[in-house]
Amino acid sequence: MSTQTESHPLDDPATDPFAIAALAAEQIAELTGVDHHDMALTLGSGWGSAASLMGETTATIPATDVIGFSKPALEGHVGTLSSVLLPTGKRALIIGARTHYYEGHGVRRVVHSVRTAAATGATTMILTNGAGGIRETWTPGQPVLISDHINLTADSPLEGATFIDLTDLYSKRLRDLARSVDGSLDEGVYCQFRGPHYETPAEVQMAKTIGGHIVGMSTALEAIAARQAGMEILGLSLITNLAAGIQKSALSHEEVVQAGKDAGPALGALLAAIVAQL
Ligand code: HPA
Repeated sequence: MSTQTESHPLDDPATDPFAIAALAAEQIAELTGVDHHDMALTLGSGWGSAASLMGETTATIPATDVIGFSKPALEGHVGTLSSVLLPTGKRALIIGARTHYYEGHGVRRVVHSVRTAAATGATTMILTNGAGGIRETWTPGQPVLISDHINLTADSPLEGATFIDLTDLYSKRLRDLARSVDGSLDEGVYCQFRGPHYETPAEVQMAKTIGGHIVGMSTALEAIAARQAGMEILGLSLITNLAAGIQKSALSHEEVVQAGKDAGPALGALLAAIVAQL
């Protein structure tokens, strides 16, 4: 957990997180010169190089210049927001600054980027991540579609008695569209654990027993917030490793990062082809 003590606008329960997101969207419009985005993409481990393949990056700003965005957890890492003009004429907001639940800043900060994306006008939210695979037929470096999720964080971005339907949370239409680009894309149920430790083999077996195929630490809470904001969601996981106990060797962060680097160009091409259809 960070030791920073600076006050943050989303930490005050009296603050309206949607008002902060609206303000953030205004600042993004000012700083990028683009007042409306059609879609947004959160680029997780391995997916970072995609933006340049999707179109022309017309602006890149440090995320911390925008209200509500938190300092990156990793020292020396700069989280950025970019505006990309696609060949179709549409505008994509690229979120390269993810606040993870395990950072301990609370779920409001975790989903602020998604709420901000919606406030910029985005109606499609593409959430990507690096994750562990439970299916033994999967191999590290392979992207898979998220078909549904199991939220094991015991938390929610929704506050108060806010009842939101999560049927078809990960849009069937968008999954079919992704498969029309790459027919080999498999899909599975994403289990979000709190992290930052990787799962034990017993936890992975539990995830498998309850219907999970992918284990990760990010996307479920963001997807719920995106649905609340009315966006259509596409979820993609890069399998960076087989989950603990499925792969016989120990898990390492370096292995996860390397799998992402190796897969980068292929993932970029996949995302570029998908957004060209939106
Ligand atoms: N578990 C959880 N998160 C992950 C993993 C994993 O095996 N690999 C990459 N992110």
